[in-house]
Amino acid sequence: MLNIKYINIVFLVVFFASVYCFAGNSDNQISEKHIEAGLQCIDCHMTETPVRAASQKSCKACHEGVETGEKIILKDINSKEYLVNPHNAHTGALRCTICHHIHTSSELYCNKECHHSFTISVP
Ligand code: HEC
Ligand code: HEC
Ligand code: HEC
Repeated sequence: MLNIKYINIVFLVVFFASVYCFAGNSDNQISEKHIEAGLQCIDCHMTETPVRAASQKSCKACHEGVETGEKIILKDINSKEYLVNPHNAHTGALRCTICHHIHTSSELYCNKECHHSFTISVP
């Protein structure tokens, strides 16, 4: 009995999470900080009626010099620590939007494409 209840709860959580994500996408929601800063579609997309992904040109216009930021400690799943600047790693410059997705959850591209499993949340 308990198991069935548990499965129902899991189902509901997954269901509402999907509805939430879907709603987020269709509203083209942006992050809290960008809302606070009063950003409009045109600021990133260079058009008021975007139909495709924004390029990183706009990001760079407002966020000049992120690559000179501090190194941070990234821990992998074995708690091994690496001191890296996610904006200036050994790969050289990476496109902003492969990590920062803006309308959907961001991700650490290094985890997706390579060998690492760093535990860090990407804004
Ligand atoms: C802070 C910058 C930013 C703002 C503001 C912004 N977008 Fe975007 N948008 C992006 C980025 C970056 C992508 C590409 C995401 C990716 O590749 O993961 C994107 C993707 C999109 C896409 C393409 C989705 C797809 O499936 O390819 C549409 C449509 C879109 N945005 C519409 C909008 C609308 C409408 C607004 C205003 C309400 C808006 N965006 C505001 C950065 C922004
Ligand atoms: C018109 C200016 C403007 C543009 C264009 C812009 N941003 Fe921002 N962004 C801001 C401001 C202002 C903040 C809030 C202050 C800060 O953290 O620097 C911010 C915050 C952020 C943050 C931190 C968010 C958080 O929740 O901590 C990230 C990541 C970010 N921007 C990425 C991007 C990316 C990627 C793009 C391009 C797709 C982009 N921004 C385009 C102005 C801009
Ligand atoms: C490899 C993934 C990755 C790429 C590519 C990337 N970022 Fe980030 N970004 C991160 C991570 C991880 C953090 C969180 C750093 C922290 O917690 O100190 C972050 C934080 C930020 C922030 C907020 C804190 C800060 O350092 O100011 C901004 C703004 C930002 N990124 C903008 C950009 C822009 C602009 C680009 C493209 C020029 C870019 N990022 C490319 C991973 C990435």
